[in-house]
Parts: sequence; structure tokens; C-alpha cells
Amino acid sequence: LQTLPPMQLADKYFQIFPEERDPLWQNPCHDKRHKDIWSKEKTCDRLPRFLVIGPQKTGTTALHSFLSLHPAITSSFPSLVTFEEIQFFSGPNYNNGIDWYMDFFPFPSNVSTDFMFEKSANYFDTEVAPKRAAALLSRAKILAVLINPADRAYSWYQVVDGSQLRSNPALVMEGIQRFLGVTPIFNYTQALTYDESKGFWCQRVEGARPKCLGKSKGRKYSDMTPESRAFLTEHYREHNMELLRLLNRLGQPLPAWLREELQSSS
Ligand code: A3P
Repeated sequence: LQTLPPMQLADKYFQIFPEERDPLWQNPCHDKRHKDIWSKEKTCDRLPRFLVIGPQKTGTTALHSFLSLHPAITSSFPSLVTFEEIQFFSGPNYNNGIDWYMDFFPFPSNVSTDFMFEKSANYFDTEVAPKRAAALLSRAKILAVLINPADRAYSWYQVVDGSQLRSNPALVMEGIQRFLGVTPIFNYTQALTYDESKGFWCQRVEGARPKCLGKSKGRKYSDMTPESRAFLTEHYREHNMELLRLLNRLGQPLPAWLREELQSSS
């Protein structure tokens, strides 16, 4: 039997199977053949049970910080490179492989009750991300924050959004806990407090000022002009109709802003 040296063999292989040039990582423990050759020192449990996928500018940093307050929920370690987010499924980091990804997660203390997660806001709009995430985390739950795209566009420009996460985070966090099936149910009404000067909900700290997100999250600016709002409402109308159809198909409740937006533009 004759064979080529490894590098040449790899070149040859990818010439014959070019579609395999991009890897698709799967959970090594889901396939016996993979598990058998997976190092004994490694585990398959240093993977998230749910993902917060974005999109950007919807309040994902606030959601991340609220989730991290929960005693049974553990966030990934922050990346020093990409705004603290791991951004594994969405870009070149994917080529670093699953060991690199798992290093962002602690060894779970109690696998059945520990909910590890990561938040990368660009998973939402990266086309390869769903395929990659489904291959590695087939059972993970997905959280997407939906706000009025007109407000989101204005937020990119300078502004604040008007979603329920912002106005009533305790209620939203209760729904999220039920969706995740996480216990104990953490009381966010107690853990959070509205900070008048920030104008946002922040973490309550006993005997001290509330702990709010940094300056770049929850900025102060004037309201959108009616002309801009009318323009953006029109601009996003078809996309919002698509979202309505998608949520109906998935049997998901409609966010209040979507109802209002479609009523006002019909
Ligand atoms: P602005 O920066 O326009 O004020 P993300 O973290 O996904 O980039 O989203 C940032 C947005 O989160 C902020 O937009 C703000 O409107 C919103 N947000 C919701 N709840 C917040 C909170 N408790 N503190 C700060 N920002 C919050």
C-alpha cells in the first residue's frame, strides 16, 4: 500500500472533495466512532445549553448580564478579542475547532442543573451560523431578541429601543426561565431596580448604587422624528410581514411592537 505524505495527501483529498474544505464540527459524544477516539481527559459537557444569538443593538448585553445573575446559569468566559463575545459559529474562530470553543466554558459542576450559555449577537445574521450551531449543539435552545427594526436601525444611528426587555425585564426574564426550564426560578423583581438617572433597569446592590451597564449601552438622545419613523416603518414593512408569518408558523407569540407596527402601517 502506497500513500502520500500528510500535507500532500490532504491536498489531494480536498481536490477530490472540495465541499469538505470547510469543517462542520459535531459533538464527539453523539457518534460512537468519534467518542471511541476522543481523549479520555476530554469531556463533551463544556458546551452551552443555550445561545443568545442577537441581533446586535436589541438589548443583548442587558439580557446577558441579567442571565448571569441567575445562580444556576453560567456564562462563557469573555473573549478578549471580540467585544467579549466568542463569535465561534459566525466567523474565522470556527476554524480553531471545538477544543478552542470549549475552553471558553468552565467544567460544569453538576451537569444536569448547570445552564451554560454564550451570547454572540452576530449569530443572528450570519448565514452559516445556524448550520454550524445545529451540528455541534443539536439540543441547545436559542434566544433571539426581537425589537422593532425601525428602532434598531435608529439605535445604530444613535438611539434607544422600546422593547419589553427594556421596559419590564423582570417579566421577560420570568418567561425566559420557563422556556429554558431552569430552576430555581430566580426573582428578577428583587434582583433588578430601575435607575432614574440611567433611565434603565440595573442590578440592585444592597447598600450601594445600582450596577448598570456601561455608557455605550442605553444612551441618551432625542426621539426619532415622525418622518424618520414613517420612512423606516415603510422600509421594514415587508420584512415585518415575513417575521409575522415565521412566528405564526413557529406558533410563537407576537411581540407587542410587531402588532402595533403592522396595525399602524396597514
Ligand atoms: P442604545 O445603545 O441605542 O441605547 P446590545 O447590547 O444588543 O448592543 O443592545 C444595546 C441596547 O440595549 C441599548 O441601545 C438599549 O436601548 C438596550 N437596553 C435594554 N435594556 C437595557 C438596560 N437595562 N441597560 C442598558 N441598555 C439596555
